[in-house]
Amino acid sequence: MQIRLISARPWEVEADVLAVPITCEEPSDEILAELDRRLGGALGSYREVGELAGKPWSSALVRGAEMGADWVLGMGVGKAEDFDRVIALRLGAAIERRLIGRSVRRLGVYLPSGLVSDGGLEVAAAVEMLARGVIEGMADPYAIYRQGVEADLPPQLDELVLCVPDGDVTALTAAAERGMIIGEGGNRTRRLAQRASNDVSPEVLADEASAIAAEHGLTVETFGPEKAAELGMGMFLAVGRGSDNPPRFISIRSGEPGSTDSRGRLLAMVGKGVTFDSGGISIKPSERMEEMKMDKTGACTVLAAIGTIARLAPGLPVLAVAPAVENMPGSHSTRPGDVVRAMNGKVVEVNNTDAEGRLILGDALTWAEGQGATHLIDVATLTGAVERAFGKLITGGFGTPQDWWDEVRDAGARQGERYWQIPFVDEYRADMESWYADFQNSSGAEGSLVKSGLFLREFVTRPWAHLDIAGTAYLRKSTPWAARGATGVSHATLVEVALAGR
Ligand code: BES
Ligand code: ZN
Ligand code: MN
Repeated sequence: MQIRLISARPWEVEADVLAVPITCEEPSDEILAELDRRLGGALGSYREVGELAGKPWSSALVRGAEMGADWVLGMGVGKAEDFDRVIALRLGAAIERRLIGRSVRRLGVYLPSGLVSDGGLEVAAAVEMLARGVIEGMADPYAIYRQGVEADLPPQLDELVLCVPDGDVTALTAAAERGMIIGEGGNRTRRLAQRASNDVSPEVLADEASAIAAEHGLTVETFGPEKAAELGMGMFLAVGRGSDNPPRFISIRSGEPGSTDSRGRLLAMVGKGVTFDSGGISIKPSERMEEMKMDKTGACTVLAAIGTIARLAPGLPVLAVAPAVENMPGSHSTRPGDVVRAMNGKVVEVNNTDAEGRLILGDALTWAEGQGATHLIDVATLTGAVERAFGKLITGGFGTPQDWWDEVRDAGARQGERYWQIPFVDEYRADMESWYADFQNSSGAEGSLVKSGLFLREFVTRPWAHLDIAGTAYLRKSTPWAARGATGVSHATLVEVALAGR
């Protein structure tokens, strides 16, 4: 898809459909008044009768007249003062989804000055989020296997024309292209995360990593159980043992070995890659167990993110690490009560084989530090508790020291992604004590979310943030701004954090 940014009047945009955001307050804007005059006052009368009065994602399609666009799509975005990066991102996707089944090759979007520049969101930020939203709105992660879906898909555009009343077109074009590239990476995360577990084994995930590395000229390194045993990754190996699909420890590096970014850092992004989580011997109930194909989402996120970073900042040193395993019950499986030795030497009692994510992540974090990582972020569908606490719209997480957490959270906010920090309460550590080992991997429901962070903290010595995307990684129902299925959450956050080291 081509993206074009123009500084023009909305009626000058040549397009199949021109989308115009509609706010709750009546616009005082001369340009919007002229646009509506050309439409015979359609938008104004829709507002009057309450049909299109700014309610978020309400919409109406009107025939274009005296203008370059064939149709005008008015779409509610709420109050002008609330127009922020999240809304701008959703607006792009909601426009695409509103046009499902319509033949649109060339889409225009007009950003009126009442929403941006004067006091509100910066135009560049709005343009970046909008472009990313349109790209993400074009994807339907559920359409991978389903047949005959063409008619149900959002329009696959040839051209997106973003129209602003004024501004530095060169700078804004760069912002829009950045949004498009980040959106494409997010869609890659979603497509991969969405694939079924009989399709994506740890081996296949490693092949996908190789493809990403080859596409961007990056270095991939993958090893199996023998090398993992040599390295002493007892926790990683404990999870993969029960499956006939052998574990794969996957990593991709960009930049020269030993090099750091402009801030002297090597960022490691570590993603949980459980290609299916049955729970193992501590088997899960069958209800919703099919959702556990999504338990590889963290790995998909970090692998796609390093590809996106390579497109935006070629050669920037970054490390992506994706421990990939299938957690299955069987005669070779780890049993509750088994004791294993982690790569960092700590001895862990696996009293619940369903608390497997923290086991593979612990060894992966140790390995990443050994590769010279100075700063770490892990992304994982780690706990059911995080969804109960924060739902599908906020990602819970941990971080230490505080200024590293703040940096990750702020980068997320710049990309329209919400995070909430969970405290490390050391008093809960006592519950994790084991009779047989240094500590255990699971210990009762009280404070279990806090304990998941305390467990992982045992395996890091450097600035680290943990993003628990179990709630936010996928939607069970479609919304006006996203198809059900994988969301690609945190991909953009990782890219934004890494790019700060350009
Ligand atoms: N993969 C699950 C977490 C999960 C649950 C992700 C629901 C998405 C939706 C994880 O491995 C798990 O089983 N966690 C346990 C931990 C417990 C045994 C300490 C949980 O949350 O119940
Ligand atoms: Zn899991
Ligand atoms: Mn589990």
